Amino acid sequence: MLVCVCNGIREKDFRAAVREGAPTPCTAYARIGHRAKCGQCVPFAKTIIENEQMSN
Ligand code: FES
Repeated sequence: MLVCVCNGIREKDFRAAVREGAPTPCTAYARIGHRAKCGQCVPFAKTIIENEQMSN
């Protein structure tokens, strides 16, 4: 599943970036080598970050 359609960022790669310590969608995208474009994915990306933080 894609988290960010503009950049083709897969959920698996996004979660890995968050687990490596990226605290926000933008920092996680930067770790993968991308940056937010349209911004539509940001609320979903934030939900995934919260989800990862709760499972720690
Ligand atoms: S869907 Fe992520 S920036 Fe557009």
